[in-house]
Amino acid sequence: MAFKVGLLGLGTVGTGVAQIMQAPQGRHPLLHEMSLHRVGVKFIDKPRTIDVPSEILTTNLEAIVTDPDLDVVVEVIGGLEPARSLILTAIAQGKHVVTANKAVIARYGDEIFTAANEAGVYVMLEAAVAGGIPVIQPLKQSLGGNRIRSVTGILNGTTNYILTQMQQSGRDFAEILQEAQALGYAEADPTADVDGLDAGDKIAILASLAFGGRIKLDQVHREGIRQVSAADITYAEKLGFVIKLLAVAQVPTGHTVGDAPPAQLEVRVHPTLVPKLHPLASVNDVYNAILIEADPLGQVMFLGPGAGAGPTASAVVSDLINIVALLKSGLTANTPETNIIHPLLACSHHHYAQIAPMDALVTRFYARFLTQDHPGVIGHLGTCFGSRGVSLESVVQTGFQDGLAEIVVVTHDVREGDFHQALTDIRHLDAINHIPSILRVL
Ligand code: HSE
Repeated sequence: MAFKVGLLGLGTVGTGVAQIMQAPQGRHPLLHEMSLHRVGVKFIDKPRTIDVPSEILTTNLEAIVTDPDLDVVVEVIGGLEPARSLILTAIAQGKHVVTANKAVIARYGDEIFTAANEAGVYVMLEAAVAGGIPVIQPLKQSLGGNRIRSVTGILNGTTNYILTQMQQSGRDFAEILQEAQALGYAEADPTADVDGLDAGDKIAILASLAFGGRIKLDQVHREGIRQVSAADITYAEKLGFVIKLLAVAQVPTGHTVGDAPPAQLEVRVHPTLVPKLHPLASVNDVYNAILIEADPLGQVMFLGPGAGAGPTASAVVSDLINIVALLKSGLTANTPETNIIHPLLACSHHHYAQIAPMDALVTRFYARFLTQDHPGVIGHLGTCFGSRGVSLESVVQTGFQDGLAEIVVVTHDVREGDFHQALTDIRHLDAINHIPSILRVL
């Protein structure tokens, strides 16, 4: 008897999932023990690249999540609603859920996992972060013997593509974005990607798994790449860096990773100067990567395609295989009464992690200033930084822009709050015309 799967959505990812399920040969044997029972679509008659029997297609998504015959519901429609409500209904009906929906999980994880634990079902989300890269299961299982110090990721393919193209062509953000939209690499409304929101959802999910606490999304600092200019990329290059949109979750610098869970966590997304020899510096174009530092393992990096039909479907199907394995072995009888919770697959934390304020972050900074070309300007800058305890690693004046001198400063590690105090002082200097960019340095 095959376990019955209901698929919500037959777009890019849904089609990828159906394709794998329709051709199980040569893949995991458990794929032979699941069948695509119903598929929810928006339009029945839409031309498709996949042949799905018309009798299993329906536009009634509610009928799928309440279908008593189904064992598992796969949600790949995306967006917040009706995805969230459909997931909750499926759970209430005693169905396991596989979702690729980072936006729903990052915002409603608390509600969804509480409901799932009560109902004795699993909500699996390998596809929600970094597409085809297996990172959820390693964090839940394979790295369990470690204390995690940091998770640093390039989690958004669109922005990584744009930054790579900017770096390779010397052109500015707006031009490359337009080109990426024409090529279909960037959405018509690119906000979620270029403003760091998509990466914010993903790092909140990874932080939660790596450090064992729920994350309030509005406490995650999310800064995108709109303000990164071709000039910054050129200066970064000269200084030995590339610019990447990094998503970081880590125990704050100077805090030991010890017996107890960390008192506070840093969870943030921002464009960052990454040293050219750093493993993440060479992750280009639409690729994603996640570098995890753990004790005693050390560094481990996961690299691969972060989006697309095949890679995302690969992650969805890995979750389906896990669930079918449980159903087959009888570890879950799929009823709330038995309420067997597999400790490696269920969500086991219920508290919210404390997120450290950005002012307390200790990091290096890069800043670019446009100033009058007067004697003593660099001296005044140095004094403002020095009086706030900000130590400078390098100061370069390489050119002029519109008659103004362009000065680039890289600091040593500083408290972000101190750095911003110094910038407030600097903005009051007569010779300072403009501070076009402030970026963090890894
Ligand atoms: N929009 C995402 C990206 C892919 O550009 O990486 C889906 O998460």
